Amino acid sequence: MKIVHTLSELIAARAELQGSVGLVPTMGALHNGHLSLLQQSTAQNDHTIVSIFVNPTQFLPGEDLDKYPRKPEADIKICELAGVDVLFMPRPEEMYATIEPTIHAPSSKAYILEGLARPGHFDGVLRVVLKLFNLTKPTRAYFGKKDAQQLYLIQNMITCLFLDITIVPCEIIREDDGLALSSRNAYLNPEERREALKLCESLKCATYLVMKGERDISVIQAAMLQALKPLHVEYAVILNRDFDTIPSLHVGHSIILVCAKVGTTRLIDNLWI
Ligand code: PAF
Repeated sequence: MKIVHTLSELIAARAELQGSVGLVPTMGALHNGHLSLLQQSTAQNDHTIVSIFVNPTQFLPGEDLDKYPRKPEADIKICELAGVDVLFMPRPEEMYATIEPTIHAPSSKAYILEGLARPGHFDGVLRVVLKLFNLTKPTRAYFGKKDAQQLYLIQNMITCLFLDITIVPCEIIREDDGLALSSRNAYLNPEERREALKLCESLKCATYLVMKGERDISVIQAAMLQALKPLHVEYAVILNRDFDTIPSLHVGHSIILVCAKVGTTRLIDNLWI
């Protein structure tokens, strides 16, 4: 595996790769969720490039940019074992010029839910992802369904900017007890870790109601809010997969999204139903 830090090293390493290339963009602190993206990429492509970059433009002032978990040695080992060909670990100066054009994610989809709490977050995500696409020219790029809104906005960018890249949505990976894997789970103390289970329990509760035939969004939402008590819930919503509001849940076309604060940590989870 080649580890590269500069743009010129990355471009040279990419030029040597023949055949299909899978890109797995990450912010590091890799866990089994990331590993499943790496495994899908190595299985489906001749070569895999992974980027590890804690992207400053997607953090708002006062957010956890400085304390975001960083584990470069462990990440390198994981990528090596997973059969990654090129690992790109740039410094911020490498990725951003002092003056440059910015991208505005469509506000009706990027300033709701995650984007309401974190205005501008998705502008930063799309900005760095487009740069990574341009640098690595992947055949396919791999993103987890846990960041469902991010996945939607990246797919929308691909479509609207006519990028010739296939986005591969990857299933949410969970702990045995149901907690969705996230690098930010590292912030939870043991009691908060237990409380965090309420997010996936609220989704289980929604699934149970849907299986019983319930389609009324307000009924499902009320049951979810009950299951989430006493957490501080930011949203528990049911939308279609284009992130539009819908009159009632339509099985096979809907997504249930939940965000709650456990202690000071914001956690998200969702279910494609
Ligand atoms: O999902 C993430 O880890 C990040 O938002 C991404 C896609 C790597 C962009 O920085």
